[in-house]
Amino acid sequence: MIKPKELVALAEQARERSYCPYSRFAVGAALLCADGTVFTGCNIENAAFGPSVCAERTAIFKAVSEGRRDFAALAVAGGPAGSPVERECPPCGVCRQVLREFCADDFPVYMSGGNGTYRMLRLSRLLPASFRAEEQLL
Ligand code: THU
Repeated sequence: MIKPKELVALAEQARERSYCPYSRFAVGAALLCADGTVFTGCNIENAAFGPSVCAERTAIFKAVSEGRRDFAALAVAGGPAGSPVERECPPCGVCRQVLREFCADDFPVYMSGGNGTYRMLRLSRLLPASFRAEEQLL
C-alpha cells in the first residue's frame, strides 16, 4: 500500500493540472481506495464561478463514478498557481461533507506543507458533530 508521503506527492503532481484562471490558487488531491487504487483530482474553475469544483471532490467523484466507495486516505496540496506548496490547504466545508458520505470518523486527510512535509487530521476532527447518511437512511 502506498505511503502517506507518496500520496502527498501525487496530490502535488495533480495540482499541476489545476484549471484556476480566476483564483490563481491551484489545488491537487489524491484519494487512496481500499483496493490500493489512487484517483487524483484538481480544482476546475469556471467563468460563471458557481460551477467550479474543488480538487478533492474531483478525485472523490472520479472514484465513485468508477465503482469505488471504500476509501483509505486523502492527500491535498494547494497554493498560488505557478509556485510550489508553502503551507497547508485544508479541505473546504463542502468537500468535508462529501467525504463524510463515504468515510469513517478515523479517515485520515494528509495536507501538504511543502518541501516533503505534511500533517494529518482525521475526518472527525475536520467535521465534528456532522450530519451523516445514517441519520437520513433510517
Ligand atoms: N479549492 C480546492 O480545490 N480545494 C480546497 O480544499 C480549497 C479550495 C479551490 C477552489 C477554488 O478553485 C480555489 O481553490 C480557490 O478557492
